[in-house]
Amino acid sequence: MFNRLQVFIWVAAVAVLAGGLFWFFQHFDKLNHAPVVAVSGSPVPKAEYGSSASCKECHEEAYALWLKSNHGLAERLPNAEMDRRAFEPARAFTHGKQSSSVFATNGDFFVTTLGLGGKPEAFRVGRVIGHDPLRQFLVAAPGGRWQTLEASFDPTPSAMKTGSRASGATGPGAA
Ligand code: HEC
Repeated sequence: MFNRLQVFIWVAAVAVLAGGLFWFFQHFDKLNHAPVVAVSGSPVPKAEYGSSASCKECHEEAYALWLKSNHGLAERLPNAEMDRRAFEPARAFTHGKQSSSVFATNGDFFVTTLGLGGKPEAFRVGRVIGHDPLRQFLVAAPGGRWQTLEASFDPTPSAMKTGSRASGATGPGAA
């Protein structure tokens, strides 16, 4: 027969086991699924894009170096100071078998070049990618896309004097 102590140990052991199983089944769902991000249903909270400027307050020196680097200028809005040279004075040029022209009006920059319909159209420059040795201009295209143009701008001063480093092109340079 069991003595009192043995009975107590058995009861305690059963109670701990039962408690453990109860806890396990209560939490089973969470244990199994906690790290999994919901595919559908309520939105899962996520971090917002911090923006480059948010780094400045703690990394002032690195930020200042980055801002003027090719990385810092890799993708940006058109800017009068940086882009005027590519569009003023207005001019036409050839690149490959195409002819294009550029002009600026009311602070916007335009490239007139072959459109999707196969005819020349004036496209307003929406974004600029690249810095040195080549700047490409993006224009809005159907379906929310940004389209690069065949003609690009070579920003080196010698290219401005001689037309372009690219063969056969005059004016703002060609890619
Ligand atoms: C609130 C202050 C703060 C902000 C804002 C901040 N950082 Fe930092 N960052 C730090 C500190 C502190 C360190 C550690 C510096 C150390 O170890 O010497 C660090 C370290 C780093 C390092 C590692 C540097 C190394 O030498 O290993 C990188 C890269 C970095 N930060 C990038 C960023 C970027 C990118 C952003 C903006 C998106 C940013 N930080 C915003 C405070 C900040």
